[in-house]
Amino acid sequence: MANVIIVGMQWGDEGKGKIVDLLCPAFDSVVRYQGGHNAGHTVKFRDRHFSLHLIPSGILHPGMRCVLGNGMVVSPPAFFGELDRLMEAGVDPAGRLFLSNRAHALLPWHAELDQAREAARGDQAIGTTSRGIGPAYEGKVSRYGVRLGDLASVDLAARLETEYRRVQVELESLGAPAPTPLDDLLVLCAGWAERLAPLLADTEVLLSEWIEGGESLLFEGAQGALLDIDHGTYPYVTSSSSTAGGACTGTGVPPTAIEGSIGVLKAYTTRVGGGPFPTELEDATGEYLRDRGNEFGTTTGRPRRCGWLDIVAARYARRLNGTGVIALTKLDVLDELEEIRVCTAYEVDGQTTPNMPPEVGAFERARPVYESVPGWQQDTAGIVEVEKLPRAARDYIRLIEDQVGGKVELVSSGPRREETAVAGGGVLEGLLGARFQNVLEARGN
Ligand code: GDP
Ligand code: IMO
Ligand code: MG
Repeated sequence: MANVIIVGMQWGDEGKGKIVDLLCPAFDSVVRYQGGHNAGHTVKFRDRHFSLHLIPSGILHPGMRCVLGNGMVVSPPAFFGELDRLMEAGVDPAGRLFLSNRAHALLPWHAELDQAREAARGDQAIGTTSRGIGPAYEGKVSRYGVRLGDLASVDLAARLETEYRRVQVELESLGAPAPTPLDDLLVLCAGWAERLAPLLADTEVLLSEWIEGGESLLFEGAQGALLDIDHGTYPYVTSSSSTAGGACTGTGVPPTAIEGSIGVLKAYTTRVGGGPFPTELEDATGEYLRDRGNEFGTTTGRPRRCGWLDIVAARYARRLNGTGVIALTKLDVLDELEEIRVCTAYEVDGQTTPNMPPEVGAFERARPVYESVPGWQQDTAGIVEVEKLPRAARDYIRLIEDQVGGKVELVSSGPRREETAVAGGGVLEGLLGARFQNVLEARGN
């Protein structure tokens, strides 16, 4: 059985939740490996609609196991809130939801620091989700963090005290309110530890046992390649490894146990928060994409910045993630356009380049070099066979395959699970084997 990673190929919100949900029937477990509740994954099928932030999208599939890996930063109240909402909606997580005791706890002061630092940065702000993701990862890397398994430890007060004083000084220097008092925080931690206890596990051991037992894992990436802490558009990135490599460090599953990765690519580009965005459209077409694509953040509700497909960035993402299969999403959003543009190179300081400049300054100066293709001006919503797509849409897909590399074997033309074309006989079917049929059945035909 294959273990497969699903990653975003842009700046997040590519439709990973939808694609993970669609492919779940071919796997036994879904594993998140990085990020926290900065993620917002929307899943729709029939008349149901869910927004997931911390809990893998697999939770919506009865019986499927879900793991929150060691690479994540988990806010216990956000986790409990999400779990409660899912249970109210009739989802039964009993016995199939596992949190790594090595995952780091995202504490209230991480969010307090995130917000105070963003305010202090003024026009240099990253535009974070203000959830505290950066400070939580910073605590982990500086070795002041608290892991979920440590929340019940007897020396927690002593461990938190030094860090508390440091946070207090920093918040004061930024003119922000004082952090949640330490005594209150300790009471909260004790309550969280108690409720988390039955869900905590050494997930590295679990995952390796499941793999040895012949089960298959689907790794659910959050964010996207261009938000990766190392490979993304630094400093306008998130603080985790959101490329495929993060699946190994964030779970303890070795690279030799992973057979492939699927990149999720939106048919145009969006970005939330600050940072350069060469193909951004600050005009009526950008407005149109935002309205038609309903491009408002699942987590923060912020309007997403919209622009043409950036092939330079997608090519980079394909290399970083080794994605043999591309799931192209939101094709229907382009349906009415007469002309569609794709950026195939950048011009930086008078030089044309097919690559993303690593320095933010050069990336800010990058100008898109566009190719223009005709739109199809036909309704593609809900088309489930690639051959039935209008010719110009198929040409657009071929252009993406030629320019980005990899095979577009999933084409999404609507938010619902049922609205996806799935090509057989290719790399995807090779990866999923006999279980490819389960995907077709779950899609509804
Ligand atoms: P994620 O973070 O990558 O999981 O993506 P989000 O869920 O944040 O954002 C994707 C949005 O597009 C969600 O509202 C989805 O319901 C929606 N969506 C996904 N695929 C399609 C599609 O093919 N067409 C349309 N119109 N909407 C889609
Ligand atoms: P999903 O999983 C889109 C962006 C924020 C900000 C930057 C840093 O739904 O695709 P952070 O709070 O992580 O420190 O913010 O990263 N960002 C996302 N943008 N989708 C996401 O997740 C994102 N998670 C973080 O907007 O620019
Ligand atoms: Mg999202």
